[in-house]
Amino acid sequence: MTRLGVVLSGRGSNFEAIAEQIGQDKLGAEIAVVVSNRAEAPGLDAARRLGLSAVALPSRGVERPEYDRSLIAVLRAHDVEWVILAGYMRILTADFIRAFPERILNIHPSLLPAFPGLDAQHQAFAYGVKVTGCTVHFVDEHLDHGPIVMQATVPVDDGDTVETLSARILREEHRIYSEALRLLLAGGWRIEGRKVIGAMGLPAGG
Ligand code: GRF
Repeated sequence: MTRLGVVLSGRGSNFEAIAEQIGQDKLGAEIAVVVSNRAEAPGLDAARRLGLSAVALPSRGVERPEYDRSLIAVLRAHDVEWVILAGYMRILTADFIRAFPERILNIHPSLLPAFPGLDAQHQAFAYGVKVTGCTVHFVDEHLDHGPIVMQATVPVDDGDTVETLSARILREEHRIYSEALRLLLAGGWRIEGRKVIGAMGLPAGG
């Protein structure tokens, strides 16, 4: 079983979607620990309810290099092999990236490289795009930037509000994050520059 470390800051619905897939034995992985930089994150409560190790590691007032060293220590203490960012609202240091080479994933609620950063759904809605979506990508030290594993598209309808659009994107997030993880854990892929090349031919997901 591959040991996953989930790192989050808030609601934790993507974490819960992955935990559900694991509960159905669909990933060949287990969640070794859930860490949050915000002690009050609902995602941490969800982890406790599921009987998982849940660690609050508050980041307020802690410089990034020091914080990331502590985060690495927690993940290592739980023998984490893959780091799954699920709504983690901080950028990781290069030292953290080097600690888990090609083993850190993130999900972002837009079709990268469009609309990186905060409030991606709102950015897309305000821009007036007709299609947006979500992206699972490897993490590097730049914001929402590493090699793309999988994307799913979501249409923007005339009657949409940011809320209805966000909900439609979130359903796709929950679907493709587990799917991307499942394919990656199956092996047979490599990263060449910005490209993730999968022997099994990663589907577009959309
Ligand atoms: C998601 O929209 C994800 O794409 C972004 O942060 C949000 C986290 O939501 N990175 P949740 O905490 O998984 O519910």
